[in-house]
Amino acid sequence: MNKVLTINGGQPLKGTVAVRGAKNLVPKAMVAALLGDSPSVLRNVPEIKDVDVVTGLLNIHGVTVDKDSVTGDLTLNPAAAKSASSKEIDAYAGDSRIPILFCGPLMHTIGEAFIPDLGGCRIGDRPIDYHLNVLREFGAVVDKAPNGITISARNGLHGAKLHLPFPSVGATEQVLLTAVKAHGVTELKNAAMEPEIMDLISVLQKMGAIINVRSERTLVIEGVTQLRGYDHTALPDRNEGASWASAALATGGDILVQGADQKDLSAFLNTYRKLGGEFDVVGDGIRFYHPGGELNPLVVETDVHPGFMTDWQQPLVVALTQAQGVSIVHETVYENRFGFTDALVRMGATIQLHRECLGSNPCRFGQRDFLHSAVITGRAPLHGADFVIPDLRGGFSHVIAALAAEGTSNASGIELINRGYEHFLDKLQGLGADVELRDAAL
Ligand code: UD1
Repeated sequence: MNKVLTINGGQPLKGTVAVRGAKNLVPKAMVAALLGDSPSVLRNVPEIKDVDVVTGLLNIHGVTVDKDSVTGDLTLNPAAAKSASSKEIDAYAGDSRIPILFCGPLMHTIGEAFIPDLGGCRIGDRPIDYHLNVLREFGAVVDKAPNGITISARNGLHGAKLHLPFPSVGATEQVLLTAVKAHGVTELKNAAMEPEIMDLISVLQKMGAIINVRSERTLVIEGVTQLRGYDHTALPDRNEGASWASAALATGGDILVQGADQKDLSAFLNTYRKLGGEFDVVGDGIRFYHPGGELNPLVVETDVHPGFMTDWQQPLVVALTQAQGVSIVHETVYENRFGFTDALVRMGATIQLHRECLGSNPCRFGQRDFLHSAVITGRAPLHGADFVIPDLRGGFSHVIAALAAEGTSNASGIELINRGYEHFLDKLQGLGADVELRDAAL
């Protein structure tokens, strides 16, 4: 039965939420456990759907994943790693993009990997060409198969000199998870340097890997023949923290985000302050609040770390609809990440999308046909509307907008938000949101 979330808006969100391990690290650390010759322990694991998907994928490859009933910590044991049938793996197709990161660990463990057609958020084409190109450079053989791709290490995997066309997070992780046990030295230029990548490097170093982080986005990895299990506490989810921060501002509220880490949110906090939001860094997190008065319009450009992260953009746009004046957001990481603004416009926001780069830096999408700049004119009173959740961050943003709006909204597809936000509805209700989940009449 489909579920619909009914949201009665107009109430500020106030209270405390706790964020746990980062969605953009935890599944990758789970995959890394495949590389060890002894069990790994991963702590601070959130209850999100991406963790369930990776648990399922690891299970069919013979890796046991035991969850501590009190702490939620995972113990991952790869001792009986084995190949899985393409039918079993295919059952996960469309659920997540994580399967692509199984390539290196599976090739090192059992010689080959089958990668189903990939899902993930609908935010542009999200190709995997960088992944396949680096895997070929390591010596992997990539064959097209029905419903996916088979990748094998028939001739072994050797270190390579690599240069990414763009500092892709996923492709950097692909290189790390493959290079640590490849024969010889790998040099990766134009690598992503996100905090979640640095945490994955810490995981791999605990396992026995040798990874040097050099200046100018360069990683040098010296392959080793053997890795052991790790014991690691995942870094907190900065993207969830930033989402709740924007929710506080959009609804005129006050939210203490326990677990939020100032250093990983530096670019976000600067933007938040310029917009007129207040924050206090406290012992166990960061308190975000609307201090009253008007919010200021802004010009924001998304970028790779240490810039303003693309996943912070959509919730911030909702807050910008409540700023007095004209704001501009230039999305330079994904070509198609403004689809969610349709529903905001139906709720009363004034947002125009443009193909031009409306920022200080021309980006990869400028001379092409992508609506990747947004002009937001505020302050716009929002009213309730019915909408379908389009993707993880866009969906969160719709729900915040509905909470900031006068009147009632109905959201379907709310389960998509569970991919990356732990206990989403419980947290909303804990912050005083008037929301109710009910079965939809078909
Ligand atoms: C990860 C994050 C996501 C975040 C993104 C950028 C996870 C699970 N997801 O996604 O939340 O928004 O980083 O910080 O960690 N690209 C290609 N070819 C490729 C790979 C990527 O053209 O083979 C392009 C993408 O289309 C996109 C850009 O590179 O335009 C960045 O993508 P990437 O950094 O790889 O994102 P993900 O790792 O998928």
